Amino acid sequence: MAVRRVAPPKLQPKDFAFTAENLDWAKKQVTKYPEGRQQSAIIPLLWRAQEQNGGWLPEAAIRAVADFLGMAHIRALEVATFYTMFLLEPCGKKAHVQVCGTTPCRLRGADAIFEVCHKRIHHEPLHVSADGDFSWEEVECLGACVNAPVVLIWNDTYEDLTAESIEKVLDGFAKGAPVKPGPQIDRQMSAPVGGPTTLKSVKA
Ligand code: FES
Repeated sequence: MAVRRVAPPKLQPKDFAFTAENLDWAKKQVTKYPEGRQQSAIIPLLWRAQEQNGGWLPEAAIRAVADFLGMAHIRALEVATFYTMFLLEPCGKKAHVQVCGTTPCRLRGADAIFEVCHKRIHHEPLHVSADGDFSWEEVECLGACVNAPVVLIWNDTYEDLTAESIEKVLDGFAKGAPVKPGPQIDRQMSAPVGGPTTLKSVKA
């Protein structure tokens, strides 16, 4: 697991404030928790701050969320640096590709996916491509191992990938018309490839 730190000062915006709409939403979130436990809203609030900031979480946003919830900055920083769902560096405008590098994905061809990311996006993780549109990083298991290898882009997983199909997925984001998420082969969800293999004599 990589060390997770906030981005260097030269990449950090000076300040952050929720939009009026997000501020309203944040105020509603804290009412979901019992009196005195409002700090429990930290994860949804950090997530909304990240979405508002184009997909990554600057230090100013972490501080702003901590102030909003009346907690020490370091406590919010601990949460933001623990979970890989929070991106601490600027990411690609069109897609940030989180590539699973855990054993089942490695055994089923994740190396080819990393290769495409190195060539097409940047040779280093967490660096934005020359056109500013893409970035990538390695993450731990994305919870879809049965359809390995898997990547997560924004809120969706793309599964059963090959070097060719990840190229098509990236082409879709480049054109602003992403392909359908989920398996990229002939498979329904996590059912067997090519259709049912058991209970075939049972009529629906
Ligand atoms: S090991 Fe890759 S999704 Fe679980």
